[in-house]
Amino acid sequence: MIKKGIILAGGKGSRMSPLTKAVNKQLLPIYDKPLIFYPLSILMLAKIKDVLIIVNKGQLDQYRKIIPNGDNLGMKITYKEQSTPKGLPDAFILGEKFIGKSNVALILGDNFFYGQNLTTNLIKSSKLTKGAKVLLHRVTKPELFGVAKINNEKKIISIKEKPKKYISDLAITGLYFFDNKVVEYSKKLKPSKRGEIEIVDLLNKYKKTKNLYANFLGRGGAWLDTGSMDDYYKTSAFVSAVENRQGVKIACLEEIAFNNKWINKNHIKKSIKFYGNCDYSKYLQKLI
Ligand code: TTP
Repeated sequence: MIKKGIILAGGKGSRMSPLTKAVNKQLLPIYDKPLIFYPLSILMLAKIKDVLIIVNKGQLDQYRKIIPNGDNLGMKITYKEQSTPKGLPDAFILGEKFIGKSNVALILGDNFFYGQNLTTNLIKSSKLTKGAKVLLHRVTKPELFGVAKINNEKKIISIKEKPKKYISDLAITGLYFFDNKVVEYSKKLKPSKRGEIEIVDLLNKYKKTKNLYANFLGRGGAWLDTGSMDDYYKTSAFVSAVENRQGVKIACLEEIAFNNKWINKNHIKKSIKFYGNCDYSKYLQKLI
Protein backbone atom coordinates (compact mmCIF):
# COMPACT_ATOMS: atom_id res chain seq x y z
CA MET A 1 0.00 0.00 0.00
CA ILE A 2 1.20 3.49 -0.82
CA LYS A 3 1.41 5.37 2.47
CA LYS A 4 2.86 8.69 1.38
CA GLY A 5 1.34 11.43 -0.73
CA ILE A 6 2.35 14.81 -2.10
CA ILE A 7 0.03 17.72 -2.88
CA LEU A 8 1.47 20.19 -5.35
CA ALA A 9 -0.10 23.42 -4.18
CA GLY A 10 2.14 26.16 -5.50
CA GLY A 11 2.02 27.32 -9.10
CA LYS A 12 1.66 30.66 -10.81
CA GLY A 13 -2.12 30.79 -10.88
CA SER A 14 -1.79 33.06 -13.89
CA ARG A 15 -5.17 32.13 -15.38
CA MET A 16 -6.90 33.29 -12.23
CA SER A 17 -5.09 36.58 -11.79
CA PRO A 18 -5.85 39.08 -10.23
CA LEU A 19 -7.46 36.76 -7.64
CA THR A 20 -4.19 34.92 -7.22
CA LYS A 21 -1.96 37.97 -6.89
CA ALA A 22 -2.18 38.09 -3.10
CA VAL A 23 -3.62 34.67 -2.21
CA ASN A 24 -2.55 31.29 -3.52
CA LYS A 25 -5.17 29.51 -5.63
CA GLN A 26 -5.41 26.56 -3.26
CA LEU A 27 -6.39 28.84 -0.38
CA LEU A 28 -9.31 30.34 -2.28
CA PRO A 29 -12.76 28.92 -1.51
CA ILE A 30 -14.52 26.19 -3.42
CA TYR A 31 -18.00 26.83 -2.04
CA ASP A 32 -17.55 26.42 1.73
CA LYS A 33 -13.93 25.33 2.17
CA PRO A 34 -10.47 26.20 0.88
CA LEU A 35 -9.59 24.41 -2.35
CA ILE A 36 -6.68 22.60 -0.62
CA PHE A 37 -9.20 20.54 1.45
CA TYR A 38 -10.39 18.71 -1.67
CA PRO A 39 -7.12 17.15 -2.88
CA LEU A 40 -6.15 16.44 0.73
CA SER A 41 -9.45 14.60 1.22
CA ILE A 42 -8.67 12.41 -1.79
CA LEU A 43 -5.35 11.29 -0.31
CA MET A 44 -7.15 10.62 2.98
CA LEU A 45 -9.76 8.49 1.22
CA ALA A 46 -6.85 6.51 -0.24
CA LYS A 47 -5.82 5.96 3.44
CA ILE A 48 -2.67 8.01 2.99
CA LYS A 49 -1.70 9.49 6.36
CA ASP A 50 1.70 10.97 5.65
CA VAL A 51 1.39 14.01 3.38
CA LEU A 52 3.82 16.59 2.04
CA ILE A 53 2.28 19.83 0.78
CA ILE A 54 4.45 21.81 -1.60
CA VAL A 55 3.69 25.53 -1.57
CA ASN A 56 5.13 28.66 -3.12
CA LYS A 57 7.98 30.40 -1.40
CA GLY A 58 6.69 32.80 1.23
CA GLN A 59 3.26 31.19 1.63
CA LEU A 60 3.93 28.67 4.37
CA ASP A 61 2.47 30.76 7.16
CA GLN A 62 -0.87 31.13 5.43
CA TYR A 63 -1.16 27.38 4.85
CA ARG A 64 -0.19 26.56 8.42
CA LYS A 65 -3.02 28.75 9.69
CA ILE A 66 -5.58 26.46 8.11
CA ILE A 67 -3.73 23.11 8.15
CA PRO A 68 -1.11 23.27 10.91
CA ASN A 69 0.52 19.81 11.07
CA GLY A 70 -2.13 17.15 10.76
CA ASP A 71 -2.55 16.48 14.51
CA ASN A 72 -6.24 17.43 14.29
CA LEU A 73 -6.66 14.75 11.60
CA GLY A 74 -4.47 12.04 13.10
CA MET A 75 -2.08 12.56 10.21
CA LYS A 76 1.44 13.78 9.62
CA ILE A 77 1.41 16.82 7.37
CA THR A 78 4.63 18.58 6.46
CA TYR A 79 5.42 21.40 4.07
CA LYS A 80 8.10 22.29 1.62
CA GLU A 81 8.52 25.49 -0.35
CA GLN A 82 9.11 25.58 -4.08
CA SER A 83 11.18 28.58 -5.15
CA THR A 84 9.55 28.85 -8.60
CA PRO A 85 7.12 26.58 -10.49
CA LYS A 86 9.57 24.30 -12.29
CA GLY A 87 7.04 21.71 -13.42
CA LEU A 88 5.00 18.90 -11.88
CA PRO A 89 7.82 16.31 -11.53
CA ASP A 90 9.69 18.86 -9.39
CA ALA A 91 7.46 17.48 -6.62
CA PHE A 92 9.61 14.35 -6.54
CA ILE A 93 12.90 16.25 -6.54
CA LEU A 94 11.75 18.52 -3.71
CA GLY A 95 10.15 15.53 -2.01
CA GLU A 96 13.13 13.18 -2.28
CA LYS A 97 13.81 13.10 1.46
CA PHE A 98 10.12 12.81 2.31
CA ILE A 99 9.69 9.91 -0.13
CA GLY A 100 12.77 8.01 1.06
CA LYS A 101 12.47 4.41 -0.10
CA SER A 102 8.67 4.48 -0.38
CA ASN A 103 6.27 4.59 -3.27
CA VAL A 104 4.25 7.77 -3.51
CA ALA A 105 1.02 9.35 -4.74
CA LEU A 106 0.85 12.83 -6.26
CA ILE A 107 -2.22 15.00 -6.51
CA LEU A 108 -2.36 18.46 -8.03
CA GLY A 109 -3.63 21.06 -5.59
CA ASP A 110 -6.27 22.36 -7.96
CA ASN A 111 -7.86 19.04 -8.93
CA PHE A 112 -11.34 18.03 -7.78
CA PHE A 113 -12.62 14.45 -7.83
CA TYR A 114 -16.00 13.12 -6.82
CA GLY A 115 -18.03 10.04 -7.57
CA GLN A 116 -19.35 6.64 -6.87
CA ASN A 117 -16.78 3.96 -6.06
CA LEU A 118 -14.09 6.62 -5.80
CA THR A 119 -12.79 5.30 -2.49
CA THR A 120 -12.63 1.71 -3.74
CA ASN A 121 -10.92 2.95 -6.86
CA LEU A 122 -8.36 4.94 -4.86
CA ILE A 123 -7.55 2.08 -2.56
CA LYS A 124 -7.10 -0.20 -5.55
CA SER A 125 -4.68 2.26 -7.13
CA SER A 126 -2.72 2.72 -3.94
CA LYS A 127 -1.90 -1.00 -3.94
CA LEU A 128 0.60 -0.32 -6.70
CA THR A 129 3.97 -1.91 -6.01
CA LYS A 130 5.74 -1.39 -9.32
CA GLY A 131 5.51 1.17 -12.10
CA ALA A 132 3.18 4.14 -12.35
CA LYS A 133 -0.57 4.42 -12.46
CA VAL A 134 -2.64 7.31 -13.81
CA LEU A 135 -6.33 7.99 -13.42
CA LEU A 136 -8.00 8.64 -16.77
CA HIS A 137 -11.29 10.39 -17.43
CA ARG A 138 -13.24 11.07 -20.61
CA VAL A 139 -13.44 14.73 -21.66
CA THR A 140 -15.07 16.62 -24.52
CA LYS A 141 -12.04 18.80 -25.28
CA PRO A 142 -9.01 16.49 -25.18
CA GLU A 143 -6.90 19.11 -26.95
CA LEU A 144 -6.76 21.02 -23.66
CA PHE A 145 -5.28 18.16 -21.61
CA GLY A 146 -2.57 15.56 -21.44
CA VAL A 147 -4.27 12.55 -22.99
CA ALA A 148 -3.68 8.80 -23.13
CA LYS A 149 -4.51 6.34 -25.87
CA ILE A 150 -5.28 2.83 -24.69
CA ASN A 151 -5.55 -0.52 -26.44
CA ASN A 152 -8.20 -3.24 -26.05
CA GLU A 153 -6.56 -4.49 -22.90
CA LYS A 154 -6.83 -1.00 -21.43
CA LYS A 155 -3.06 -0.60 -21.55
CA ILE A 156 -1.68 2.83 -22.36
CA ILE A 157 -0.02 2.82 -25.76
CA SER A 158 0.71 6.51 -26.14
CA ILE A 159 0.42 9.77 -24.27
CA LYS A 160 0.56 13.30 -25.51
CA GLU A 161 0.31 16.74 -23.97
CA LYS A 162 -2.45 18.91 -25.51
CA PRO A 163 -2.59 17.02 -28.86
CA LYS A 164 -3.57 19.18 -31.83
CA LYS A 165 -4.62 16.06 -33.74
CA TYR A 166 -7.12 13.74 -32.05
CA ILE A 167 -5.61 10.62 -30.50
CA SER A 168 -8.06 9.87 -27.69
CA ASP A 169 -10.57 11.61 -25.42
CA LEU A 170 -9.13 10.17 -22.21
CA ALA A 171 -7.52 12.92 -20.20
CA ILE A 172 -4.80 12.18 -17.67
CA THR A 173 -6.15 13.63 -14.45
CA GLY A 174 -4.04 15.17 -11.71
CA LEU A 175 -3.77 12.07 -9.54
CA TYR A 176 -0.85 9.70 -9.98
CA PHE A 177 0.68 6.75 -8.16
CA PHE A 178 4.39 6.01 -8.57
CA ASP A 179 6.97 3.51 -7.45
CA ASN A 180 10.22 4.74 -5.95
CA LYS A 181 11.95 5.07 -9.35
CA VAL A 182 10.05 8.33 -9.75
CA VAL A 183 12.74 10.28 -7.91
CA GLU A 184 15.57 9.03 -10.10
CA TYR A 185 13.51 9.52 -13.30
CA SER A 186 12.43 13.04 -12.33
CA LYS A 187 16.00 14.13 -11.70
CA LYS A 188 16.92 13.08 -15.23
CA LEU A 189 14.20 15.12 -16.96
CA LYS A 190 15.20 18.06 -19.15
CA PRO A 191 13.01 21.19 -19.25
CA SER A 192 10.68 21.46 -22.26
CA LYS A 193 10.30 24.45 -24.58
CA ARG A 194 8.17 26.22 -22.00
CA GLY A 195 11.00 25.85 -19.49
CA GLU A 196 9.34 23.29 -17.20
CA ILE A 197 9.99 19.61 -16.57
CA GLU A 198 6.93 17.77 -17.82
CA ILE A 199 4.79 15.03 -16.27
CA VAL A 200 4.21 13.55 -19.75
CA ASP A 201 7.99 13.05 -20.14
CA LEU A 202 8.07 11.36 -16.75
CA LEU A 203 5.15 9.07 -17.63
CA ASN A 204 6.85 8.24 -20.92
CA LYS A 205 9.83 6.90 -19.01
CA TYR A 206 7.48 4.41 -17.35
CA LYS A 207 5.76 3.64 -20.63
CA LYS A 208 9.09 2.80 -22.27
CA THR A 209 9.68 0.06 -19.71
CA LYS A 210 6.03 -1.11 -20.02
CA ASN A 211 5.32 -0.05 -16.48
CA LEU A 212 2.60 2.52 -17.05
CA TYR A 213 -0.90 1.50 -15.97
CA ALA A 214 -4.30 3.10 -16.26
CA ASN A 215 -7.24 3.30 -13.95
CA PHE A 216 -10.58 4.91 -14.84
CA LEU A 217 -12.78 7.30 -12.98
CA GLY A 218 -15.77 5.99 -14.90
CA ARG A 219 -18.94 7.68 -16.12
CA GLY A 220 -20.31 8.20 -12.63
CA GLY A 221 -17.30 10.18 -11.59
CA ALA A 222 -16.62 13.89 -11.77
CA TRP A 223 -13.22 15.39 -12.34
CA LEU A 224 -12.75 19.11 -12.51
CA ASP A 225 -9.55 21.04 -12.88
CA THR A 226 -10.34 24.25 -11.04
CA GLY A 227 -7.49 26.21 -12.62
CA SER A 228 -9.53 28.47 -14.91
CA MET A 229 -12.08 31.02 -13.72
CA ASP A 230 -14.96 29.19 -15.35
CA ASP A 231 -14.11 25.75 -14.02
CA TYR A 232 -13.42 27.23 -10.63
CA TYR A 233 -16.98 28.52 -10.34
CA LYS A 234 -18.43 25.37 -11.90
CA THR A 235 -16.74 23.32 -9.18
CA SER A 236 -18.15 25.59 -6.48
CA ALA A 237 -21.63 25.21 -7.96
CA PHE A 238 -21.21 21.42 -8.11
CA VAL A 239 -20.18 21.22 -4.44
CA SER A 240 -23.00 23.51 -3.38
CA ALA A 241 -25.56 21.46 -5.32
CA VAL A 242 -24.44 18.12 -3.87
CA GLU A 243 -24.04 19.37 -0.32
CA ASN A 244 -27.34 21.22 -0.14
CA ARG A 245 -29.31 18.47 -1.82
CA GLN A 246 -27.89 15.58 0.18
CA GLY A 247 -26.95 17.27 3.44
CA VAL A 248 -23.48 15.70 3.36
CA LYS A 249 -20.26 17.56 2.90
CA ILE A 250 -17.67 16.85 0.25
CA ALA A 251 -14.11 16.96 1.63
CA CYS A 252 -14.94 17.44 5.30
CA LEU A 253 -11.48 16.42 6.52
CA GLU A 254 -12.43 15.61 10.10
CA GLU A 255 -15.31 13.41 8.93
CA ILE A 256 -12.98 11.34 6.74
CA ALA A 257 -10.36 11.10 9.50
CA PHE A 258 -13.09 10.04 11.96
CA ASN A 259 -14.42 7.38 9.59
CA ASN A 260 -10.86 6.16 9.02
CA LYS A 261 -10.58 5.86 12.83
CA TRP A 262 -7.58 8.20 12.85
CA ILE A 263 -9.23 10.57 15.35
CA ASN A 264 -11.86 10.42 18.09
CA LYS A 265 -14.67 12.70 19.28
CA ASN A 266 -12.28 14.82 21.33
CA HIS A 267 -10.32 15.76 18.23
CA ILE A 268 -13.55 16.83 16.57
CA LYS A 269 -14.50 18.96 19.56
CA LYS A 270 -11.13 20.68 19.29
CA SER A 271 -11.68 21.30 15.57
CA ILE A 272 -15.07 22.85 16.28
CA LYS A 273 -13.38 25.28 18.66
CA PHE A 274 -10.71 26.02 16.08
CA TYR A 275 -13.12 26.77 13.22
CA GLY A 276 -15.53 28.72 15.43
CA ASN A 277 -19.19 29.36 14.86
CA CYS A 278 -19.79 28.38 11.21
CA ASP A 279 -21.69 25.82 9.15
CA TYR A 280 -18.64 23.59 8.92
CA SER A 281 -18.51 23.40 12.74
CA LYS A 282 -22.23 22.73 12.95
CA TYR A 283 -21.75 19.84 10.56
CA LEU A 284 -18.92 18.48 12.74
CA GLN A 285 -21.13 18.82 15.80
CA LYS A 286 -23.78 16.69 14.13
CA LEU A 287 -21.19 13.94 13.45
CA ILE A 288 -20.57 13.48 17.15
P1 TTP B 1 -0.88 24.41 -13.47
O1 TTP B 1 -2.03 23.80 -14.15
O2 TTP B 1 0.38 24.66 -14.20
O3 TTP B 1 -1.47 25.70 -12.81
P2 TTP B 1 -0.94 27.02 -12.13
O4 TTP B 1 -1.45 27.04 -10.73
O5 TTP B 1 0.51 27.27 -12.29
O6 TTP B 1 -1.83 28.10 -12.89
P3 TTP B 1 -1.73 28.77 -14.33
O7 TTP B 1 -1.57 27.68 -15.33
O8 TTP B 1 -3.02 29.47 -14.40
O9 TTP B 1 -0.57 29.70 -14.26
O10 TTP B 1 -0.51 23.52 -12.20
C1 TTP B 1 -1.33 22.53 -11.66
C2 TTP B 1 -1.21 22.53 -10.16
O11 TTP B 1 0.09 22.24 -9.74
C3 TTP B 1 -1.57 23.87 -9.53
O12 TTP B 1 -2.32 23.60 -8.38
C4 TTP B 1 -0.25 24.47 -9.18
C5 TTP B 1 0.66 23.28 -8.98
N1 TTP B 1 2.05 23.48 -9.41
C6 TTP B 1 3.04 23.63 -8.47
O13 TTP B 1 2.78 23.66 -7.27
N2 TTP B 1 4.33 23.73 -8.89
C7 TTP B 1 4.67 23.68 -10.20
O14 TTP B 1 5.88 23.76 -10.51
C8 TTP B 1 3.63 23.56 -11.16
C9 TTP B 1 3.95 23.52 -12.62
C10 TTP B 1 2.34 23.45 -10.73
